Amino acid sequence: MILNTDQEWGAVAKALHWIMALTILLMFVLGWLAVSAPMSPTKLKLFMWHKSIGLTLLVLVCLRLLWRLTNKTPLQPVDVSPMEHRLAKAGHAALYLLMILMPLSGYVINSTANFPFKLFGWAQVPNIIPPNEAWQDRAETVHLSLFWFFALLVAVHTAAAWRHHFIKRNNVLTRMLPKRAPPA
Ligand code: HEM
Ligand code: HEM
Repeated sequence: MILNTDQEWGAVAKALHWIMALTILLMFVLGWLAVSAPMSPTKLKLFMWHKSIGLTLLVLVCLRLLWRLTNKTPLQPVDVSPMEHRLAKAGHAALYLLMILMPLSGYVINSTANFPFKLFGWAQVPNIIPPNEAWQDRAETVHLSLFWFFALLVAVHTAAAWRHHFIKRNNVLTRMLPKRAPPA
């Protein structure tokens, strides 16, 4: 099923969720590797990949939001209280916000630093704001603080998914997982 239904996430929503989740985890690692590497061609390469993949994620989250807003959302199982439902909604909204603010703040660092950068080593990316050292410092602080908040929220989100699966034993996790082909 391509589209979402009242019961399940469709193939597009599932694919976007898991491709983006894995890529974001990779970006956490790439960011730290790039920052900690000593100045070298490898460091510049790590940053080129970090920034290129990050901007691709920014495009993907816009498409994902469009898909989300024009599609059904599966209903919550009956064992989810109104309070839990509100918390889940707020958590998901915060995750969407972070998926937008994280690459945007990175883009602001790169622009204020006036660091020329080609997307995947191929197309020059324009600055979104003019170079400015004070703003570069601020954007770096924002990027780092958002990262810690993002990592914490992903941990809570993952724990909540496991709680649904292993403790409440409802279908919240399984309906987000790829479907196995029916036996022949
Ligand atoms: C989902 C997207 C992104 C994630 C999860 C992410 C994550 C991170 C992490 C974990 C770090 C290391 C910690 C730090 O010093 O801040 C970092 C650093 C950095 N990122 Fe990103 N990033 C993303 C997107 C981007 C984008 C799109 C750009 C630029 C176009 C970018 C540019 C940078 C730069 C320049 C640094 C080094 C900052 C410094 O020296 O303090 N990031 N990022
Ligand atoms: C960087 C990592 C992740 C991000 C950014 C993320 C983000 C999101 C967002 C925004 C939603 C809400 C979907 C919507 O309403 O459109 C969602 C749903 C969901 N996520 Fe994640 N996720 C991540 C990792 C994970 C992991 C590791 C698991 C499981 C172990 C997981 C399990 C789920 C499940 C089960 C749902 C569906 C919830 C429901 O049906 O109400 N996610 N995720």
